[in-house]
Amino acid sequence: MQEHKILGIDVGASGMKGAIVDVRTGKLVADRQRVDTPKPATPEAMAGAFAKLVEMHDGYKGAIGCGFPSVVKKGVSLTASNIDKSWIGVNIEQIFSEACGCPVFATNDADAAGIAEMKFGAGKDKKGTVLLITLGSGIGTALFLDGKLAPNTEFGHILLHNMIAERYAASSVKEKEGLSWKEWGGRINEYLCYIERILSPDLLIIGGGISRDFENYRRFITTEAPVTPAQSLNAAGTVGAALYAYKCLKKLQKI
Ligand code: BGC
Repeated sequence: MQEHKILGIDVGASGMKGAIVDVRTGKLVADRQRVDTPKPATPEAMAGAFAKLVEMHDGYKGAIGCGFPSVVKKGVSLTASNIDKSWIGVNIEQIFSEACGCPVFATNDADAAGIAEMKFGAGKDKKGTVLLITLGSGIGTALFLDGKLAPNTEFGHILLHNMIAERYAASSVKEKEGLSWKEWGGRINEYLCYIERILSPDLLIIGGGISRDFENYRRFITTEAPVTPAQSLNAAGTVGAALYAYKCLKKLQKI
C-alpha cells in the first residue's frame, strides 16, 4: 500500500463507514464500505464491527484513521453521548488496533470532518473563525481559527430550551419526531443563531448526511454568517480520518 493512500473510518452511532483515501487529493480511491454500528455500542462489539469493516478493504494493512463520536484525548474516549457509556476511559486506538491488526489513530469525528473541509472543501484557505457542524445522531463541532483546529469543542452540548442542543436539533431528531423541513429548519436555525451569538463565526459549514439536503432548509437559516454544506458532504468524516492518520504518521516517521 502506498503511504499516501490511507484507510479512513468514520465511526458513527448508527453506522461505520470506511474508504481508502488519497490524502494528497482528498479523493476516495474506491467506494465507501459500511457496516452497522452494533447495539448496544459497547467497545467489544464495536471493535468486532471495526475489524469486519477493515477486512472489507481487500487485505488493507496500513495505518487507519478513525473519527470517533466522543471527546478523544491521546486516543482515549472521554465521553459517550450516543454510544455505550462503557466507552468512557477506553483507549480507542488500542482496542481497535488489537481487533484489526493495524495501527489506528483516533480523533473526534467532527474534528476529522473539519480537517477534511478545511484542507480540500468549503473551508479551504478560509481565515478567521470557521465552525463545521456535523448533524447526525448527535451534533458535533470543529472550530478553526485561521485554519488551526481547537479540538473537542462539543458545541452540540450547549443548552437550548433547557435541553442538550443535539436532542433538539440533530438530524436524528427530525426523523424521530417526524418533523417537516420547515419545523426542523426552524430548530437548526435557532441553534445556528445561538452559536453565532457565542462565537461570531465568519463561516459555518454543515456536515453529516443531511448536508446533502441543504436546499431543503437553507431558506430557514437567518444567520449573518454564511452557511454552506460541506463540499465532500457526508464523506468529510472518512476523508478527515485518513488525513488525521497521515498527519500522525508523518509525526512518527517524518515521512
Ligand atoms: C458527541 C461528539 C460528537 C457528535 C457527533 C456528540 O454526541 O458528544 O463528540 O462529535 O456527537 O457524532
